[in-house]
Amino acid sequence: MNFCTPGRYFDSNFTALEQDAMEWLDGFYQLEHLLNTRSWVVALCAGQASEALRFAALSHDAERFFPGGPTGTPTNGFDDPDYLFAHSTRSADIVEEWMRGQGAEATLCRQVRRLILRHEIGGGWEADILQAADALSFLEVFDWLAVEWVQRGIYTIEGAKEKLCWSMERIRPPLALHRALPLFEAATRALDAAFDTRFDFATRREQAASLAFLTQATQETKQGQR
Ligand SMILES: [Fe+2]
Repeated sequence: MNFCTPGRYFDSNFTALEQDAMEWLDGFYQLEHLLNTRSWVVALCAGQASEALRFAALSHDAERFFPGGPTGTPTNGFDDPDYLFAHSTRSADIVEEWMRGQGAEATLCRQVRRLILRHEIGGGWEADILQAADALSFLEVFDWLAVEWVQRGIYTIEGAKEKLCWSMERIRPPLALHRALPLFEAATRALDAAFDTRFDFATRREQAASLAFLTQATQETKQGQR
């Protein structure tokens, strides 16, 4: 498990709408996951991801930032369709309403809505990429969250591993599966050591929620973009 590098998600290619959305979601502890999912769709599409796909990746879990959403229970498993459909629909509704309020183009709103509705189940190559990127991102930047679940007694180690396994099982594009394997192994090792691990979860959560921390332009990140 690692802390995040300041400015890891700096990107001079963010659209104005993406910038506004990130400010809207600033303070959400899943903001890093959203940014990371966007990075994965860009990588999986070799830089050719559509604007709708990038925006859907950046906003697909937005509903969890706003109270009143559906809650899954540990006993229902990670693939509970009742929860996943309610979560996807609420996110699509909230994001679409926000986009329309920003004056976003109707076609873009519709495309983003369709992708968010499908982000848990895939279907069509763009939705499959989004679903895979979501899973890759969980494995890459939520290893600490799974360990925290175990330390807080929310899940057993085996229970938390089911989330990792489910993340792998839902990946369809072969390239994404290939990229996921080392992440799956690392996250599994982190879970195996969950009870022996001392980690500053509070600081990690703050990093994951801070737009300034995640996207600030540092000398290194600017050079990386060149
Ligand atoms: Fe997600």
